[in-house]
Amino acid sequence: MFRLSILRILLYHTCISVILVAPLLAESRCVKGCDLALASFFVSPGLNLTAISSLFGFDTLTEINSNIIPYNPGTTTDYVKSEVRMRIPFSCKCIDGEYLAHAFQYKVKSNDTYTSIAKKEYANLTSAEWLQSVNTYPPTVIPIGATINVTINCSCGNSSVSKKYGLFLTYPLRPRETLGSVANVINFTNPTLLQKYNPGVNFNSGSGIVYLPTNDSSGSFRPLKSSKGLSGGAIAGISISVLVLMSMAVYFLVVLHGRKRRHKDELKVHLEDEQELRERTPSSMGIELDRSVEYSYDELARGTNNFSMENKIGSGGFGDVFYAELRGEKTAIKKMDVQSAREFLAELKVLTRVYHVNLVRLIGFCIKGHLFLIYEFIQNGNLSEHLRRTKRPPLSWASRVQIALDSARGLEYIHEHTVPVYVHRDVKSPNILIDMNFHAKVADFGLAKLTEVGSIASQTRLVGTFGYMPPEYAQYGDVSSKVDVYAFGVVLYELISAKEAIFKIDPLGTETLGLVGLFEGILNQSEPIEELRKVVDPRLGDNYPTDDIFKLAMLGKACTQENPESRPNMRSVVVSLITLSLSSSEWDARLIDEDKTLVKLMSGR
Ligand SMILES: Nc1ncnc2c1ncn2[C@@H]1O[C@H](COP(=O)(O)OP(=O)(O)O)[C@@H](O)[C@H]1O
Ligand SMILES: *[C@@H]1O[C@H](CO)[C@@H](O)[C@H](O)[C@H]1NC(C)=O
Ligand SMILES: *[C@@H]1O[C@H](CO)[C@@H](O)[C@H](O)[C@H]1NC(C)=O
Ligand SMILES: *[C@@H]1O[C@H](CO)[C@@H](O)[C@H](O)[C@H]1NC(C)=O
Repeated sequence: MFRLSILRILLYHTCISVILVAPLLAESRCVKGCDLALASFFVSPGLNLTAISSLFGFDTLTEINSNIIPYNPGTTTDYVKSEVRMRIPFSCKCIDGEYLAHAFQYKVKSNDTYTSIAKKEYANLTSAEWLQSVNTYPPTVIPIGATINVTINCSCGNSSVSKKYGLFLTYPLRPRETLGSVANVINFTNPTLLQKYNPGVNFNSGSGIVYLPTNDSSGSFRPLKSSKGLSGGAIAGISISVLVLMSMAVYFLVVLHGRKRRHKDELKVHLEDEQELRERTPSSMGIELDRSVEYSYDELARGTNNFSMENKIGSGGFGDVFYAELRGEKTAIKKMDVQSAREFLAELKVLTRVYHVNLVRLIGFCIKGHLFLIYEFIQNGNLSEHLRRTKRPPLSWASRVQIALDSARGLEYIHEHTVPVYVHRDVKSPNILIDMNFHAKVADFGLAKLTEVGSIASQTRLVGTFGYMPPEYAQYGDVSSKVDVYAFGVVLYELISAKEAIFKIDPLGTETLGLVGLFEGILNQSEPIEELRKVVDPRLGDNYPTDDIFKLAMLGKACTQENPESRPNMRSVVVSLITLSLSSSEWDARLIDEDKTLVKLMSGR
C-alpha cells in the first residue's frame, strides 16, 4: 500500500515533468559546437585572395587549398584559381542553444542586398531568408557600411548516424550535381551515408546546403568522442535527462516551498538572454570577484576624461585603447564589444591573477555595455614601431636579443607555468610592448581564450595574423603551444631584418613574400652568411656580430619548421637566447662607450 502510493507520486511527478519539458526541448537544440568545420566556397571568376579573406575574416592561404592557391609562403601572389571549390576552416558554434553556425562579419557595400550577399558574395553558403532572420535591418534598408552577420550553418556530426565522423563540410549544391558526383568530389565512398546525414535532401536539385563528412590534413575524419563532441542524438538525450531532473527538482521546490514561481523561468536559467547578460553586473551572476579587479564605469570615464580623443592612444583589432591614471596607476584601457559573459568572467578572474615581468599585466576590468580591460601602461611603444618607424632610433643588436629573450620568457611562462596554461595565438611584433628600459612584455595573451569562451563581436575570425600562422593552425585551426613558437620564429626574423612578416617585393605591391620563405631560401644555401648579411636591417649598419645573426636566424628557422613537433618548445628557445644575449652584450661592450655597457653586461649575467 505504502509502496503503491510512492509509485503513484513518482508517476504523477514524471508526467508533470514531461509536460513541462516538452516546450523546452524545442528551445534547446544544441549544447556545444566544435572547434572546426569547413565551408565549401565556390570561387567565382575575378576573385582574389584578398577579397576572399575579407569575406571570411581570416587568411585562407592554406595548404588545404594547395590545388588552387600556389602554396609556397616564399612566392605568394594574390592569385586564386576560379571555378573551383575552396575549403574555408571556421569554428562551429552552438548559437543561443538553437543552431550550429558561425556568424561571419560583413561590411555592407553599395547595391548589396541580402540576396546578393548570400548568393554572390558568399556563394550560396547561406540564404537571403536566413540572413534576414539573423540581422535586424529590414531588407529594404541595409545601410551601406553597416556590419551584418553572415551566418553560415555547420554540423559537428551525429552519433546516431555514425560515430566515425566529426568533421563536416558545409556544401552548397550546384546545378547538375548528384549524390554520386558529390561523393566523388569529396572522395567519399559511401553515398548512402551522405544521404543519412542529410535526411530528405534531394542531392540532384542543384541548390540547397548539405553537410558532408570530410577529413583533415592528417587524413583523419575526427571521429566523435563519446564524452566530448556531442552529437545531435547525444545532446537530445542528455538534454532530456537533464531537463527531466531539473524540472523534477524545480517541481519539488515549488511544491515544498509553496512558491508561486513560473516553472519555465526557473528552467530557463541556462538559456539566458544575451541582452540580459550585458546588463548584469558580475556580482549578480553569482561569480565571486575580487573587489580590486572590478572597476566602475564612472571611474573609467573620469580617468579617461569621458573617453576623450586626447586620451586615445591606439586602436586595435578589438577596439579603441585609452590612457588613464586609475587608483594611482598608469593604465591602458581596451574597450571592446562583448557578446556573452558568464564564462568570460571566470576567465577574466584567472587572467588578472597571472603575473610575470615579461607579460603585460591585466589589472582589472569593467563591464558596462562594453567590456573594458584595464592593463598596465607600457611607456615605450611596440616592437613593430621600433623596427619600422624611422622616427624611433634604431634598436641596437644587444637590445634586439634582449627583446627576443624577454618575450620568449613571457611565452614560456604562459605555456608552462600558469594554471591553466595558455597558447597566445597572436604573437607578433605589434603585440610585444617595450618599456623605458628596453625590456619587452608580451601583450594580449589571454584574448584568444576570451574570444573562445565569450565571443568578441568584432573578432569572429580565427585569432591570428597573416604571416605568423603556422600551416597546421591556418589550415585546420590545430592549436598547440607550437603555434606560438612558429610566430615567435617570425618575430626573430623581424628582429634581424626589420621587415614585416609579409612584405611587398615589387613597387606595385602585387607580389608579396613572407619572412619564413625569405629566410628559408637564404638558410638553405650552402654559403648562407653573405646572403644573410644582405637582409640584415640596414639601420644596424655593420654594428652586429655576424655569427650571432646567423645563430638567431637558425633559431628562427627551427621555430618555423613546418612540422609542429620538430619545433623547439619555448623553454629551449629561452636557453638558446640566454647564450646569445651573453655574447651579444659582450660584443656591444667592445663597440660602444664602456661605462654604459658594463652596466648592461652585469645586469645581463
Ligand atoms: N598596455 C599598453 N600600454 C601602452 N599602450 C598600449 C597598451 N596596450 C595597447 N596599447 C596601444 O594601443 C595600440 C592598439 O592595441 P591593441 O588593441 O592591442 O592592438 P592590436 O589589436 O593591433 O593588437 C597598440 O599598438 C599600442 O600602441
Ligand atoms: C583583389 O580584388 C579586389 C576586389 O575585387 C580589388 O579591389 C583588388 O584590386 C584585387 N587585387 C589584385 C592584386 O588584383
Ligand atoms: C547560387 O545559386 C544560384 C541559384 O539559386 C545560382 O544561379 C548561382 O550560380 C549560385 N552561385 C554560386 C557561386 O554557386
Ligand atoms: C540554418 O539553420 C537554421 C536553424 O536550423 C534554419 O532555420 C536555416 O534555414 C538554416 N539556413 C540555411 C541557409 O541553411
